[in-house]
This record gives sequence, structure tokens and C-alpha cells, in this order.
Amino acid sequence: MRRLQLTTGGESHGPGLTALLTGLPAGLRVDLELLAHDLARRQHGYGRGRRMQIEKDTAEIRGGVRGGETLGSPVTLWIANRDYANWEKVMGPEEVDPRLAELRRLKSPRPGHTDLAGGIKYDRRDLRDVLERASARETTARVAAGAFARMLLREFGVEIRSGVRFLGPVGADAPPPTWEDLLKVDETSPLRAIDRALEPEMVRLVDQAKEEGDTLGGAVTVIAHNVPPGLGSHVQWDEKLDGRLAQAILSIHAVKGVEIGSGIAASRGFGSVAHDAIERTEGRWTRPTNRAGGLEGGVTNGEDVVITAYKKPIATLRKGLPSVDLDTLEPHASQYERSDVTALPAAGVIAEAMVALVLADALLEKVGGDSMAEVKAHWEATMALQKAWPGGV
Ligand SMILES: Cc1cc2nc3c(=O)[nH]c(=O)nc-3n(C[C@H](O)[C@H](O)[C@H](O)COP(=O)(O)O)c2cc1C
Repeated sequence: MRRLQLTTGGESHGPGLTALLTGLPAGLRVDLELLAHDLARRQHGYGRGRRMQIEKDTAEIRGGVRGGETLGSPVTLWIANRDYANWEKVMGPEEVDPRLAELRRLKSPRPGHTDLAGGIKYDRRDLRDVLERASARETTARVAAGAFARMLLREFGVEIRSGVRFLGPVGADAPPPTWEDLLKVDETSPLRAIDRALEPEMVRLVDQAKEEGDTLGGAVTVIAHNVPPGLGSHVQWDEKLDGRLAQAILSIHAVKGVEIGSGIAASRGFGSVAHDAIERTEGRWTRPTNRAGGLEGGVTNGEDVVITAYKKPIATLRKGLPSVDLDTLEPHASQYERSDVTALPAAGVIAEAMVALVLADALLEKVGGDSMAEVKAHWEATMALQKAWPGGV
């Protein structure tokens, strides 16, 4: 990110999480309801572990905001880990109880998790030192910061939604949804499925996985609606917005693939059915389809930005996976740590936050400004120039 910078800190069972978001203009109205709502949405979903019932996340604003408006200084957020009360003697920054720490020690690394690679890299013999930061608990801080990016985008009419496209094999051949499809996603349904008819089968599959000590992955699609043309750039590899979005999405825990528009299906067919015709309808530039997912050459083209994140199944299985004990160096099943069976609905909310952060960054890069008044004036000037372009944008 060039204009907006997000840094997070904190461990999963430590005292809490910090988010430091720099680069927001001054004078942005802060919507505390939106912030609380997004944090609650991240915790929702069928197949989550018991922790989601223990923690009810709230973000405390500790800097960068005064009287409900941003100041242009770093927005600093603190999210306490309520579960820390049960972990203080294991995760306390000053002192730990060696007996309890040994009881909680992780020494059979989980295939698919960070335990082994992180243990080697940071020379840790208790792999908890790695897992605590590798945990997707960190995404709570991203969602809190993402809410501020969403508040900024909303000022310019940009909205972002998501839904579960498929879970394991259920719905796996579904095409990318449209904005209208995502408007119908029931935020309170167990899995936030785009095709609600599939939800009972999805719930059954989660139950089956849980029963068998197994886990599930799937895919979520995020759409950003009302995105102006001209965000991102084709001129340099690291300015391409598709690449920037892909990096942000792939940084989400357990996400292993990203698709823009219908890119994966398009790669299997002919060019004649892969692209979106350019038309003039009722005096406007229009595209009858949106297979490109709103991005051509790394630049937004005015259509909805459509991104699908493919998430692998959770790596912590109750029934374990083949591994090795760090002390004996003998084969030993991977250790079980309280865990989700699937976290797909949450992954959608996290992906929304990441898309919001990247788009807000690209918007500020395009129109710039230190105050909201300045950003809005620059925005109006850009919109006027686009209207003056041949045929009017
Ligand atoms: C919302 C969310 C919740 C997750 N919950 C768990 C979990 O309970 N147990 C687990 O082993 N992995 C969980 N993961 C995935 C791991 O954090 C992830 O697989 C691990 O950090 C290794 O990173 P990688 O899979 O991206 O390589 C979750 C991911 C997300 C997005």
C-alpha cells in the first residue's frame, strides 16, 4: 500500500491486538456502528470453534480520532483478547508459569500450519511462539482497520460485500456472482452462502467434518460496487491493481488462490467468450458482461471489481495428521489446538476488509489530499475530467 499503511501487532492469546492505520485524511466521520458490525460479522459463521463464543470483539480507538472525526494522524486501535484472563500465566509478556507453559507447549507441528517452518526460522522450541502470531486471530485487527477504509470509500459511493461461493464440493461449479446476487446474501444465515438453496447441504457437510475430526475449505467472492474507472495503473508491475488486490487476498490465512472475475473459467476456453464487448448504450460506455471482474491492465474499468478467494481446509484436525515429535524425533500425530472446522464466512468478511484497504489506498493515490474537503475537491475535478473524455465516462 502506498498511501494507506496498515501494521498490526499482538498474539492470539496475548493481552490483545493493535492496528495502526496511517494515511487516512483528516475530517473523515467515524461510524462506530459500522466498526462494531464488521467485527461481529467476522465472528459469525457455522463451523467456528468455541472461542468465538468467548470473545465478543470491540475495538477501542486509542489515537487518530477526535470527537468522531479522523485527525490525519495514525488511527490506532486496541482489541482486547478477553480469553487472555485464562492465558495470562502462559502468555504474559513479563512472566510465565513454566509448568503451565509446558502443558500448553506445542511440539508436534501441524502440517499446513506455520509451526514447523516458523519454528526453524525463529529458532523456537515451543512452537506456540509461532502459532500465536500465525493465528488468524490477527485478522480482527485487519477488519477493524478495514472498517475505516470502508468509511472512506462510502463517502465516494463505493460499497463492498461478500458471500460464500462454495464450501468443499458443495456448489464448487458455481460461477462468480453478481452484485445483485451478493445483495441477497443473508448476513445472519449459518454460512452466508450466495446460493441459499445449498446452505442445508453445506451445514450437513460441516457437521460431518466435525463428527469425523476433519475440516473444510471453499471459496468466497467479494465484490466492490460503484468503483470509478482509473484506479491502479498499467505502467509498472507493482502499480497494477489486480496484483495489489491478489497480494492482499493471498495474505489472508489459508487463502491459496485468487481469481479476478471469471479468470479461471476463461483460461479453459476461447478468447471469443473470455472478454467483455465494448458498447455504447443510451449515451454511455457499457459492457454487457463483466468477465474481467472490473480490471483490465491493472486499472479499474468502471465495472464491479469481482474477486474470489480460494481457501484451503483448516490445518488443525482433531483426528491429527502425520507429524513428528520435536523432543523424541519419532512419528507423532499433529497436536490438536482448539480450532474451527471451517472459517469461510469469516474469510469473506476479512477479504472485504482487505479489498477496502487496497481500494481506499488506490483512491487516495488517484485523487489525494490531506483533508476530506481536499480529497472531495480532487475527486470532483477527476469526475469532471472523465465526463469531458470522448463520449463522457
Ligand atoms: C478466519 C480464519 C480462521 C481460521 N481459524 C483457524 C483455526 O481455527 N485453526 C487452524 O488451524 N487454522 C485456522 N485458520 C488458518 C490458519 O491461520 C492458516 O492456515 C495458518 O496461519 C497457515 O497459513 P497459510 O495456510 O496461509 O499457509 C483460519 C483462517 C482464517 C482466515
